[in-house]
Amino acid sequence: MQITHHAKELRSLLADVRRSGQRIAVVPTMGNLHSGHIKLVTAALTRADFVVSTIFVNPMQFGQNEDLDSYPHTPDADIEKLQTAGCHCLFAPPVSDIYPNGLAQHTTVQVPGISERHCGASRPGHFDGVATVVSKLFNIVAPDIAVFGLKDYQQFQVIRKVTADLCFDIDIVGVATERDADGLALSSRNGYLSSTEKQTALSLNQTLTLTAQRISQGEHNYRTLEQEAAQTLLANGIQPDYFNICQADTLAPATAANKRLVILAAGFVGKTRLIDNIEVTLT
Ligand code: PAJ
Repeated sequence: MQITHHAKELRSLLADVRRSGQRIAVVPTMGNLHSGHIKLVTAALTRADFVVSTIFVNPMQFGQNEDLDSYPHTPDADIEKLQTAGCHCLFAPPVSDIYPNGLAQHTTVQVPGISERHCGASRPGHFDGVATVVSKLFNIVAPDIAVFGLKDYQQFQVIRKVTADLCFDIDIVGVATERDADGLALSSRNGYLSSTEKQTALSLNQTLTLTAQRISQGEHNYRTLEQEAAQTLLANGIQPDYFNICQADTLAPATAANKRLVILAAGFVGKTRLIDNIEVTLT
């Protein structure tokens, strides 16, 4: 696997790859890789000839009181996992390559509407940070395909909108959430949880699954279901941030008329904020 730290170096490497007619995929990450990330790399390898994974802990998407400074860095383990997966290239730039004029007053990408709800409401500016860095990575890598996890469902829809609105000619691929044996969605932030907190965290997926079952069985009073689910989370030790039954594409509140739904949930287990979701398709 080739490892590059600078955009200029990566661009010239990829120019050769492109000239030889190979299709390029990018898998953006913030590192501390787990098997959810590796699943994205594997999905990319089935769709492209040359896969670039990026590792960049993007300061712009972290709020003032969030975990930017303590975000886990495990570069050696990450390189080994990418190599084993068959990834062709790692791009791990310094902040100065991605924000050449610094973080204050730089040009940003803002995604109105879809980025203002759910996580966007709780983490103001977060999706501006994501949209900006992903646009930069798209410009540097110029991939044919970009692969993202559906675990971050709102992020996935924000990126699809950025791609369409900014006319990026890139296929955006979504990969199903990788979970541990108990159903907990894999996340770099799970490392912050004690073993007791890990048990508590299971309630997030369990409550999503139960609510999805109730919807499939014909319950359509979504606002009541949302309130009940939030109460269940609280009773099980999770401080709910939101539990929202949404239309799958727009992420607006779902009504009984909608067929493709997604339930988005976020909550705090101790100090750790976890998110998860489940899709529901009604016939
Ligand atoms: P990060 O949290 O490192 O996630 C990188 C990619 O892995 C994202 O597309 C995310 O949805 C996916 N992912 C994380 N956990 C997953 C799981 N359990 N199963 C499947 N996919 C999973 O998301 C980000 O980084 C950043 O916001 C980024 C897009 C890189 C922009 O900075």
